[in-house]
Amino acid sequence: MDKFVIHGGNRISGSIEVSGAKNASLALMPASILASGSSILHNTPELNDVYTMMKLLNHLGVETDFQNHTLRLNTGKIVSRDAPYEHVKKMRASVYVLGPLLTRFGTAKVSLPGGCAWGPRPINLHLEGLKKMGAEIDLSEGYIIARSNRLSGAKIYFDVSSVGATGNILMAAVLAKGTTAINNAALEPEITNLAEFLLKMGAKINGINTSSLEIEGVDELKPAEINTIPDRIEAGTLLIAAAITRGEITLENFSPKYCEAVLAKLESSGCKIIVDGNKIHLKNVSDGILPSDVTTAIYPGFPTDMQAQWTAYMSIADGTSTVTDTIYLDRFKHVPELVRLGASISVNENIAVIKGTKKLLGAKVMSTDLRASASLVLAGLAAEGTTEVLRVYHLDRGYQRIEEKLRTLGADIQRVEGKEY
Ligand code: EPU
Repeated sequence: MDKFVIHGGNRISGSIEVSGAKNASLALMPASILASGSSILHNTPELNDVYTMMKLLNHLGVETDFQNHTLRLNTGKIVSRDAPYEHVKKMRASVYVLGPLLTRFGTAKVSLPGGCAWGPRPINLHLEGLKKMGAEIDLSEGYIIARSNRLSGAKIYFDVSSVGATGNILMAAVLAKGTTAINNAALEPEITNLAEFLLKMGAKINGINTSSLEIEGVDELKPAEINTIPDRIEAGTLLIAAAITRGEITLENFSPKYCEAVLAKLESSGCKIIVDGNKIHLKNVSDGILPSDVTTAIYPGFPTDMQAQWTAYMSIADGTSTVTDTIYLDRFKHVPELVRLGASISVNENIAVIKGTKKLLGAKVMSTDLRASASLVLAGLAAEGTTEVLRVYHLDRGYQRIEEKLRTLGADIQRVEGKEY
């Protein structure tokens, strides 16, 4: 369990490339199961959730070769249809193998993901959708046991827009018999990246980039090759790193279309943003940080995965702001840790009220989940003195060597390896 030691106060400044999107890779990798042979995923980020998904796919019999961000997946010899607890407990996105295994092989046994660090995260929509397509689903001894003859197309309406349920049902539908309509489908760019990969594999999908997807099942798919889109949450985190330290940053390979809401909020907090094709330049030009309220929403709204980082940013704003999470009502585990650094934040139900303070003071703080850890690193960059962020394995799940990127940009941040952190 490594920790980060941050000596705060340095301005973040310089240019950096954004890595491939974790949440796109976690959908693209299991999608390779849908065809027999070698698929290639370019721009795959080197981070622990990707390695966890690789191990799960290896367990199923998928051969993987991962070099220089190119991930080759050979699905010619899949021997198992089981995703055991040992793998799924490490990462909820493992449930993405359910749709592909079931639709290609007619059977799948996948451990139920259970809750996560900040509360319940149900998968009822995944299961109800598959049942509508004709799957028999039993829950037994902590496992989802799914069986079917060939799945049939169905009309599916999601009560809530869900990234995971859209991905799972989309992957199941591409090999089903007949047409599947998914209404209230997720619009997140990672779902579009998945749909484009499926098209390359030979799937027939209409309505990509809309909330109504129509999928005409085909008998067989072929392996394919795709570029993983850049990670909009890493991009947003780096932009805030510059904003919170009154610095200046250029993201070299990142289209603003992926993060309009975050850019708009950064502007209203006093940053100047210049977009030049696929480059985004941010400079904090105001004397202080202007308070700016955010409410999380499904894409293209302000992402819940940026909520903790925004809370850290607003903790040194010149005034009071609120952060409301409408996607995950309990996602505030970072708040008590930010308070240890001197932030003044109170949480009432799903709303954090943040009274900006003049400065944060370094302290030891504990990571509790991925985005919470990112918020602590951001606060540490801005704090006076030394901040130690413990248990950064949470951060390593979803950011590719963030400390190295931040160091390139001028931060004083070191990873200290150790067992006791
Ligand atoms: N929901 C249900 N039933 C379901 C599925 C979801 O009620 O069957 C609800 C959830 O409780 C939540 C909302 O729908 O309130 C949205 O959840 P969603 O299914 O979209 O989340 P997810 O697919 O489990 C993905 C990302 C998360 C990100 C959310 C929301 C991946 C692998 N994970 O999760 O990413 O927070 O979408 O955008 O794509 C992260 O990267 O830190 C992370 C947690």
